Amino acid sequence: MKILLLGANGQVGKELTRHLSSVGELVAFARADLDITNHAAVAQAVADVAPHIIVNAAAYTGVDKAEDEQALAYAINAEAVAHLAQCARTAKAWLIHYSTDYVFDGSKSSAYLETDATNPVNVYGASKNAGEEAICEAACQHLIFRTTWVIGKDGHNFAKTMLRLACERDALNVVSDQHGVPTSPSLITSVTIDAVKAIQNNAAWPSGIYHLVPDGTSSWHEVAQTLIGFAASQQVALNAQAADIHPISTADYPTAAQRPMNSQLDTGKLSAHLSFDLPHWKDDFLAVARDIIEELKAA
Ligand SMILES: NC(=O)c1ccc[n+]([C@@H]2O[C@H](COP(=O)([O-])OP(=O)(O)OC[C@H]3O[C@@H](n4cnc5c(N)ncnc54)[C@H](OP(=O)(O)O)[C@@H]3O)[C@@H](O)[C@H]2O)c1
Repeated sequence: MKILLLGANGQVGKELTRHLSSVGELVAFARADLDITNHAAVAQAVADVAPHIIVNAAAYTGVDKAEDEQALAYAINAEAVAHLAQCARTAKAWLIHYSTDYVFDGSKSSAYLETDATNPVNVYGASKNAGEEAICEAACQHLIFRTTWVIGKDGHNFAKTMLRLACERDALNVVSDQHGVPTSPSLITSVTIDAVKAIQNNAAWPSGIYHLVPDGTSSWHEVAQTLIGFAASQQVALNAQAADIHPISTADYPTAAQRPMNSQLDTGKLSAHLSFDLPHWKDDFLAVARDIIEELKAA
């Protein structure tokens, strides 16, 4: 089974590149090899590779920058995705795509279901929402995995920033009133592989949107405290300890883009198809923290 992966150099793309070849003949393109906004090049790549499955890990993910770069965010997250979905339909390939809780406004008091109405509060969320809608309209066979707060060992992310700041400063202020969970590229990859195997075994999950996050709920503040507490236990030399991470409100940390206050996603639909149990977020996150800290110590 041939798999065409796009966006191979991102947090999720790198992890997919490491593991997808275990379930198929993988052809992986980073942005430098294939820019998904180059529609002719994408159509040619799909024709050349003739994939059974297209996995799109490419995305514009600069949440704050998107407020000033709306056209670029839409070109990558909506127009290129719409074209990719048309290519998938023509090639009779499955399209596996990733999306975000930022399609929601965060006003719900419990975890979001796949069937809840979307209402993005920032440009990034709106562009991702438009990408989801384009896939559904194209009516190719598809799986859209909505996830939250992706933190892995590759690329720049919240965990690396917190570790750096905890080395530099005596105390940190971290937002405590946005609720969700960190999700590792490793978990996203495991779920993707499970879905690919189902396609291979002629037992494909129904086309549609699936929420993909670990179990439990948290806040950025709790994630930071968990990380710094773990780093201290691993003998990382820090100025700020877990007790020095202070909770602040979103209002005290203004950003260009508004964020949803509730990023909790219900995973019942995914769990009904998955061959393994979703881990608790702390187990999923601490595996990533361990990798980041090992790299930090080796540097
Ligand atoms: N990061 C999060 O917290 C988060 C949360 C929820 C959902 N998601 C979703 O999860 C998916 C994976 O995110 P991630 O964290 O892996 O993002 P990431 O680390 O920013 O990776 C995105 C990748 O897409 C590539 N890319 C951007 N524009 C492209 C283009 N025009 N053509 C080809 N490639 C292009 C980037 O290339 P360069 O390396 O050259 O920049 C980058 O390698 C995305 O769909 C994202 O929306 C992410």
